[in-house]
Amino acid sequence: MLIGNLAQITGGVAEFDLPATSVKQLFQQLAELHPALGPHLAEGVAVAIDGQIYQDALLEPIGPDSEVFILPQIAGGSSDFLNLRDHVIVVTGAASGMGEAIARAASREGARLVLSDVDAARLQATAAELSGAVRCQPADVVSIPEIEAVFEVAEREFGRIDGLVTCAGIITTLPMLDVTPEEWDRVFAVNARGTFFTVQAALRRMLPRKQGRIVTIGSDSYKLGGGRIANIPYAATKGAVVTMSKGFARALAGTGIRINCVNPGPCDTPMHAPLTAEQRAMVAGRVPLGRFGLPAEIASAVLFLLSDAASFVYGESVNVDGGVLME
Ligand SMILES: NC(=O)c1ccc[n+]([C@@H]2O[C@H](COP(=O)([O-])OP(=O)(O)OC[C@H]3O[C@@H](n4cnc5c(N)ncnc54)[C@H](O)[C@@H]3O)[C@@H](O)[C@H]2O)c1
Repeated sequence: MLIGNLAQITGGVAEFDLPATSVKQLFQQLAELHPALGPHLAEGVAVAIDGQIYQDALLEPIGPDSEVFILPQIAGGSSDFLNLRDHVIVVTGAASGMGEAIARAASREGARLVLSDVDAARLQATAAELSGAVRCQPADVVSIPEIEAVFEVAEREFGRIDGLVTCAGIITTLPMLDVTPEEWDRVFAVNARGTFFTVQAALRRMLPRKQGRIVTIGSDSYKLGGGRIANIPYAATKGAVVTMSKGFARALAGTGIRINCVNPGPCDTPMHAPLTAEQRAMVAGRVPLGRFGLPAEIASAVLFLLSDAASFVYGESVNVDGGVLME
């Protein structure tokens, strides 16, 4: 099965069932079906095969059951539209999933990056794959001195901080009667407290310059409340993230700093690895688009909010969820 996300080219999403065994073959077959697509299906087009993103994927093998998404919008180099070249952007939770996708997308846009994560080894591996100006500072967002160290690296290495994305987060799936005070505190410490104090540390540097853009990461669960796969404390932390983001926005009015929150719907990241096949199907089934999102699709929204293209978007809670919430 091939699902071509060809909205950028054709103005719509198309679905195909083609017998290709490699991405290159697939592109050839697609170009025969739709000659207008030909010039767009070349080297440099990003492709997600069963949730894994490949840049320059022409030789990647695909099987008869592979789901392939073509992501022309995240291919290529920097865009004039976003104009993030040389912006200094701090990303927490950058070793994996969405944080990693945001780091990749920002790096392609020519941003200078300070990446952080509690998983130092994985962070190093992610950063090693990026070109351009990238610094790593491992940190646990529960530790205020460790958060401080991240921003100190940004200031020392690049002289300022233009943007922050708070991606560090954990999930808990204990059934409600099994949740312990320790588990409650653990998930709140990372998701709620960690987000608050990371934003606070950024603001201490941004306010004197009267400039900065912040994107926090909530979740569609802030509104759904959890409960289906038993992640009630997790959903409550995301409610806290959405609420604190609004509070920051109110307090920051007129300071030159913009803050918004992105609420992803279910996305294919390691966070969802523990789900059983039935749970995955149940989760995908309540998404009007009928599938999990890709980390790169969250990254697109985050980069937009970090850029001047979003100069009038403020204090907003932006659902990027395949239509789950549809507010
Ligand atoms: N995957 C989804 O479906 C989904 C949906 C909605 C919201 N989110 C949110 O998106 C964000 C990113 O999640 P993801 O799906 O990319 O998951 P992920 O597990 O792939 O990435 C989360 C990253 O945060 C890091 N991290 C965990 N605890 C940390 C700590 N104490 N300090 C610093 N870093 C820490 C992890 O090491 C990991 O690299 C999270 O806040 C998550 O709650 C995810």
